[in-house]
Amino acid sequence: MTSLLRIVRFTRALAPLYTAIIFCSVLTAVAGLAVPFLIGHATDTVAAAVGGQTATGTAVRTVVLIAGAVLLAELAVTVISNVGGWFGDVMSNRMRTILSVRYYDKLLHRPQRWFDGEITGTIVARLNRSITEITNFTKMMSNSFASMLITTAAVLAISAWYAWPLTVLLLIVFPVYVWLTSLTSVKWQRLEGEKNEQVDIASGRFAEVVGQIRVVKSFVRERGELEDFSRRFRSTDATTRAQSTHWHRMDVIRRAFLNLIFFGIYVIIFVRTVQGDFSLGEMVLLIQLMAMAKAPVESMSWVIDSAQRAIAGSKDYFRVMETPVDPRTAAVMAARPTDAADAGHASGTTSASADGTGAVATAPITSTRTAVDPVPGAPVVAFRDVSFAYETGEDVLHGIDFQVDRGEKIALVGESGGGKSTIVNLLLGLYEPRRGSVEVVGHPSAELPLDQLRARIGVVFQDASLFSGTIRDNISYGRPEASDEEVVEAARRANAHDFILRFPEGYEQVIGERGLKLSGGQRQRIAVARAILKDAPVLVLDEATSALDTKAEIQVQKGLDQLMDGRTSLIIAHRLSTIAEVDRIITLRDGNIDEIGSPAELANSGGIYAQLLALQSSGDSRRLAKFDITG
Ligand SMILES: Nc1ncnc2c1ncn2[C@@H]1O[C@H](COP(=O)(O)OP(=O)(O)O)[C@@H](O)[C@H]1O
Ligand SMILES: [Mg+2]
Repeated sequence: MTSLLRIVRFTRALAPLYTAIIFCSVLTAVAGLAVPFLIGHATDTVAAAVGGQTATGTAVRTVVLIAGAVLLAELAVTVISNVGGWFGDVMSNRMRTILSVRYYDKLLHRPQRWFDGEITGTIVARLNRSITEITNFTKMMSNSFASMLITTAAVLAISAWYAWPLTVLLLIVFPVYVWLTSLTSVKWQRLEGEKNEQVDIASGRFAEVVGQIRVVKSFVRERGELEDFSRRFRSTDATTRAQSTHWHRMDVIRRAFLNLIFFGIYVIIFVRTVQGDFSLGEMVLLIQLMAMAKAPVESMSWVIDSAQRAIAGSKDYFRVMETPVDPRTAAVMAARPTDAADAGHASGTTSASADGTGAVATAPITSTRTAVDPVPGAPVVAFRDVSFAYETGEDVLHGIDFQVDRGEKIALVGESGGGKSTIVNLLLGLYEPRRGSVEVVGHPSAELPLDQLRARIGVVFQDASLFSGTIRDNISYGRPEASDEEVVEAARRANAHDFILRFPEGYEQVIGERGLKLSGGQRQRIAVARAILKDAPVLVLDEATSALDTKAEIQVQKGLDQLMDGRTSLIIAHRLSTIAEVDRIITLRDGNIDEIGSPAELANSGGIYAQLLALQSSGDSRRLAKFDITG
């Protein structure tokens, strides 16, 4: 229950809609309550006419008038409840928007480390389920249950006026019902959680399989994947059976108890009417009122059912919302106003942490953050005795210490898995070193605002990592405002322009999820163009041309050489020929720096680089492959 109240607090922006819904519910209840009184009145009139106390003509006129009033009251219920329903639809949709936007906002704030341990499809499934269940429940509440509850409260007051024992009996029903339900609820929710976990895992795998369907097909794993999927879903069948048995058993007890109470109520009404305490009209009135009070109790079964789902959903939701954010990412997000204004961010501050969710930094959106000035004379990039481990346990990097001066070109060479890409990750601030520090333009990178740090670095990742959408969108990803000429120029320098023009749509060609419709080499060239267009002072190339054939590589390399001209560059080489011109080479062995020196120096030192050169000239490509290097 508290988690539902939290949702309401969390979506304060919807207060006007909540008010409108409650207002409509009250009106619906009032109009609905008029009907039993009118019918009761009609019954008395009929009884009087039948008993001969009133003239038939007068009685007919009265009952027709009453029927007209019933018509009016029922029309009012019809119209007002539909207006309320409209508000309910709008409210629940806006609630979905708010919850989804905040969730996404939250996820984007999570540190890289968190994403390493999550499966995309699972995150998405969890988001969809929890939000759908929360909004379904609020929609149901606002569309019918709120007015039912108000009606019940009124019925209690009215019945107290006629016969207090009726009120007492009705008053017993609710707490006992809720108590019996809470007995069910703990077990029910645990089982629901188990089911959701299986469904989330299956959905995660589903998304992964669809994303890499080629591998699945080529290894003929369709049947295996399908079996895993159906096994997870089938396991929820058994859980559902246990859950539902438990639930329905409890519902029988609850409902039987309700039936018993109503037995008492009817006995009281009938006996006291016979004894002359109530007129016929009053009896009809009371029977109808009791039926009205019964409706919410009976529908409470499914209200409780969906409330439980909503509670489970909101728990899942807040579990994610409560996780700590990466404060440096939060600062970047805060500096970039988004369209989230509609989702309650309109005040210019992300207010979520005020609800104790600790969600988003409360930093106002400002543009006053000044650019950090480079420390004069400091190296552009410096690793100071950096040790790092992805997970607790063995370090991937040990005491890495080097610096790159302005305009210098440095190559990293080492075995596959030796930690080259990890150095790039640390430089980008995707992870924090366990020991030592990474400095950029003289400042510890941990103290630089992440957006400023990352704006300085143009990177081509080892895997091209493109997005669905057009080629143009991908090239201009870092600078969406770039002109067509700039995009074409970047593509030319990446040797991509010609193949792009061969597509029927040219730059507007849609390239599929993660660029699936392109060849590996084409993807890499788009990624290079994307980095070229970013035009950052520091360039990082992580095996940027590994998927290209020699001819294309030479062409792209030309563009990259031009780009590196005057720029500080860190190159992880795929072919030794591409790093012959660098200023210094750093060789890595098992996460340690082995040697640092110019290509000429290292060529004769007998170290890794010299060995690689020797292997290359002897054409031993098998041993070269271990070093991510080809001949
Ligand atoms: N996200 C990650 N989580 C855990 N371990 C990782 C992660 N990324 C890489 N590693 C491990 O770190 C080591 C260095 O990897 P990497 O820097 O990618 O090597 P490379 O020199 O080939 O680029 C490898 O042993 C790899 O298994
Ligand atoms: Mg790598």
